[in-house]
Amino acid sequence: MPISSELSHVAEKLNTHASTAASADAMMDGVVELLHASMPRYNWVGFYMIERAAGEEPILVLGKYRGSMTPHTRIKLNQGICGAAASSGKTVIVDDVHSDPRYLACSIETKSEIVVPVFVAGEVVGELDIDSHFPAAFGDADKTLCEHAATLAGDFLTKLHK
Ligand code: SME
Repeated sequence: MPISSELSHVAEKLNTHASTAASADAMMDGVVELLHASMPRYNWVGFYMIERAAGEEPILVLGKYRGSMTPHTRIKLNQGICGAAASSGKTVIVDDVHSDPRYLACSIETKSEIVVPVFVAGEVVGELDIDSHFPAAFGDADKTLCEHAATLAGDFLTKLHK
């Protein structure tokens, strides 16, 4: 699905930022800032990146984010909506977090959530997680925009690995 005309200006800002960011940290910081500032229903926006230490289970570690502090700074791949997206490699959208038994609560105000994996060379290296205070905040246009942002992040990280 192409980016909707309503959201194309946000995609353009993301494209410009990703093409000029000086480092991976700066790129991810700008992506969360742009999405949080441009999209009124995106109340918490953050990256979790997979840390793989020898002899230990891979784990999602909170990176750049905008919104309230979360108690979930490290999430196992078999836990939460975040773990489900990372382990399946698929975007997960939950319209009502309180009816999803996987949900790890971040804020009492959160009603819906989208988590989009970030890929480098076909492998999940992290994810973009967005929470909303509104139920069912993430429709098709949002999914396309969020997947675009995650793809920009994956492409940026891919260039660093070359
Ligand atoms: N709700 C997520 C945890 C992360 S917080 O939303 C920031 C989950 O269920 O995995």
